[in-house]
Amino acid sequence: MDRIKKLCAYLEKCETFADVACDHGYCAEYMLANNLCERALISDISAKSLSKAEKLLSDYIADGKCRAVVCDGLEKIESSVEQVLIAGIGGEEIVKILKNSYIPRFFVFQPMKNARTLREYLLNNGCALCADDIFTDGKNYYFVIKGSRAQDNKNGSNCYTKAQLAYGRDSLNNPVLREYLQEELNKKREYLSRGMSENSRAALSEDARFIEGVLSGEFN
Ligand SMILES: C[S@@+](CC[C@H](N)C(=O)[O-])C[C@H]1O[C@@H](n2cnc3c(N)ncnc32)[C@H](O)[C@@H]1O
Repeated sequence: MDRIKKLCAYLEKCETFADVACDHGYCAEYMLANNLCERALISDISAKSLSKAEKLLSDYIADGKCRAVVCDGLEKIESSVEQVLIAGIGGEEIVKILKNSYIPRFFVFQPMKNARTLREYLLNNGCALCADDIFTDGKNYYFVIKGSRAQDNKNGSNCYTKAQLAYGRDSLNNPVLREYLQEELNKKREYLSRGMSENSRAALSEDARFIEGVLSGEFN
């Protein structure tokens, strides 16, 4: 639940909110219970997953403050919805959802992997990112990307350094990133002490050198 609490802190007060790929629906519950939105949409590709959120939010559904829809990504979510959260799925999956539909007006994305792919896509499609950070629930690390589809980023991903693109602009000033990178580096060094093909060793060594460079400030 610590992840949900920290993730929800990135959400803004709005009129309409959509929790896409909501599963349990805890984020929509946070928005509604704290009067942070007038209306909420909850959606999931799986009817079984969505039923958990429907149960949790049944009073809001009965009051007409929340509507549930089974759909793939943003397929059945109107583009007029003010703020969209997509959390807990991969960055490539989120990009696929955006390519198939649209980039929401205001968004908070929390990809479980491939955050760089998502970051690059958003920057190269005119988005302004107001938070591009990392947080931890004490066990795992999560990248979070918050922004809007405003067309005020003409430079695309060129405005980011190599390290910012890899780990997020704001993460570089966040001590949580150092913890994460140190853990990643230790894992890579441990793998490197084992037997593996030349190609795998070269790729892993390059990754480790990049992390060392980020930690030393070389690529920042
Ligand atoms: C790990 S849960 C994340 C739940 C919640 N968003 C969170 O961050 O805790 C992932 C959910 O995403 C749903 N999902 C995966 N791909 C999806 C897609 N393309 N569109 C909608 N829902 C999707 C799954 O059915 C599952 O319920």
